[in-house]
Amino acid sequence: MEELIEVKKQIKDFVIEIADEKSLELLGHLAQGKMLRSKLILKIAGVNTESIKLCAVVEMIHAASLLHDDVIDDANTRRGQASVNALYDNKTAIMFGDILYSKAFTELSQMDKRIAYKIANAVTLLSVGELLDVELTKTFNKSYDKYLDMIYKKTASLIEACAASAAILAGLDVEKYALYGKNLGLAFQMIDDILDITQDSATLGKPAMLDFVEGKVTIPYLLLHERIENKSKLELLYKKQLSSDEAAWIKIQMSETQTLSDSIAQARQLGLEAINSVKDENNESLVQIMKVMIEREF
Ligand code: FPP
Ligand code: MG
Repeated sequence: MEELIEVKKQIKDFVIEIADEKSLELLGHLAQGKMLRSKLILKIAGVNTESIKLCAVVEMIHAASLLHDDVIDDANTRRGQASVNALYDNKTAIMFGDILYSKAFTELSQMDKRIAYKIANAVTLLSVGELLDVELTKTFNKSYDKYLDMIYKKTASLIEACAASAAILAGLDVEKYALYGKNLGLAFQMIDDILDITQDSATLGKPAMLDFVEGKVTIPYLLLHERIENKSKLELLYKKQLSSDEAAWIKIQMSETQTLSDSIAQARQLGLEAINSVKDENNESLVQIMKVMIEREF
């Protein structure tokens, strides 16, 4: 997508406006992401000055949240590259996150009030979601509702706000697109949680099967715990550095109890619901975005 180059240029221009050399240097160390949020906005609102600015604002907020998340998760890699906290230190990562985040909000304050409200509100939810995520890693979470509420806030809320804001820009039905974005976001996070188990470290750009070690009981683990007979063995492996035998045992149990395939089915179901909410909108690329997102490998 050529338009994504425009978004990157806009982000760079915003950072140049901050007039701080260090910020520009740090921007160069941010690893290239999939830019799902920008793709979504541009497919709904088309490519114009306003939509490109909105994309840049959202990508800067997203980048800020990941800079902070890597400090919170004590992660050394992001998308296969050294993360800013690893390359510099935690302080630098937090402050650069704050700079990107506040510059994004400065620009957001100049946009349509309804868009500013939706995006700002989503960032509150995203922060609450991150707090919930951290809370949920303290003990083995067995509640599907808590997991769903957390991934809605942490991931889906911003994607929902992107779809709704793009619909506002284009004068389309905001509710329909918001629902599409919400379900796309939920499916996206579920797929992420599944890939953590099914993919290897090289493909993921971070250690594989790390979620459970970090205390994150994602959907495949939730289903496995429900279905498995030897629950105490699974509970003993929780938050433990897994040996290759232990990791293999978990994978075998998941395959025997069909928890991975059922998790994928749940993500697909959310994907179908998303597509259903925009079925009368005549926008085939929304179906495409969903398919590519579900079938991705990292
Ligand atoms: C990645 O989750 C984290 C998020 C999607 C949200 C993080 C949000 C905050 C830190 C709130 C602060 C927000 C701002 C704007 C400063 P993950 O750890 O499950 O995924 P990962 O494997 O990609 O790290
Ligand atoms: Mg993380």
